[in-house]
Amino acid sequence: MTSLEDKVAIVTGASSGIGEATAWALAQAGVKVALAARRKDRLGNLNKKIGDHGGQAFIAQMDVTKPEDWQATVKQTLKKWKSLDILINNAGVMLLSFMDKLKVEEWMQMIDINVKGVLHGIAAVLPLMREQKRGDIINISSDAAIKVFPGSAIYSGTKAAVNWISEGLRSELAREKMPIRVTSIMPGAVTTELASHITDRDIFTYFRTHPPIEFLQPDDIAATVLYALQQPGHVDVNQILVRPSQQAA
Ligand SMILES: NC(=O)c1ccc[n+]([C@@H]2O[C@H](COP(=O)([O-])OP(=O)(O)OC[C@H]3O[C@@H](n4cnc5c(N)ncnc54)[C@H](OP(=O)(O)O)[C@@H]3O)[C@@H](O)[C@H]2O)c1
Repeated sequence: MTSLEDKVAIVTGASSGIGEATAWALAQAGVKVALAARRKDRLGNLNKKIGDHGGQAFIAQMDVTKPEDWQATVKQTLKKWKSLDILINNAGVMLLSFMDKLKVEEWMQMIDINVKGVLHGIAAVLPLMREQKRGDIINISSDAAIKVFPGSAIYSGTKAAVNWISEGLRSELAREKMPIRVTSIMPGAVTTELASHITDRDIFTYFRTHPPIEFLQPDDIAATVLYALQQPGHVDVNQILVRPSQQAA
């Protein structure tokens, strides 16, 4: 296992769920972490917790859909720690709805955050990682990238895009023998706030037709992220699909 001590990471969506757990796990492993999201109060709590446990972090309040926010976060990170080794493109929304509801604004929001947000992140770090000749980009996709169910058309589309963008970038970097690794992690159902933003109530009626199962916890995905990062340099974990043991599909 490669040590992550003193590496520098930006984690988006660090204010809750998988991003929060991942930022915490990275800090525990000795990584200096820029905590990126919009909710400053939530980032503040995590920043304090990391500091209280001897770790290093700072609050990077930002919106992943805004390239200028990305530039500011990268600039702040470099000013503070002089390098940037890891980007965890985790921020995302899952605004499931049946398409006949025409929640067009929510469709566009998912494309803006889940796809364009990831692209802005890649654009903000790639030149620097190429110059450094090192780096890890981990994109949090979803098992919805490889399946579609009633209500998930746009969300699944955004996550399929994340998988293909990850694989395309990985392939281009590998062709050049550029030591920057790209990984796409596809979690199944995880206990987080993600579903709380769904506005189409009929989705919940549909969900209730499924038998209850034990979900993954955000820490399970944080452990998956660490697994990928801790591999020796010649190993690029391209994709990981990790679902609850009880999740049938
Ligand atoms: N939970 C699951 O079952 C599951 C399964 C597969 C994949 N995923 C993926 O895992 C990732 C994290 O989701 P989660 O489950 O941990 O849900 P979550 O608790 O709702 O976290 C989502 C995070 O994204 C951030 N975010 C949303 N829009 C943003 C924006 N415009 N700019 C910056 N940050 C933004 C939120 O922070 P602010 O609101 O503070 O900005 C929040 O920290 C998502 O990409 C999701 O699609 C989750």
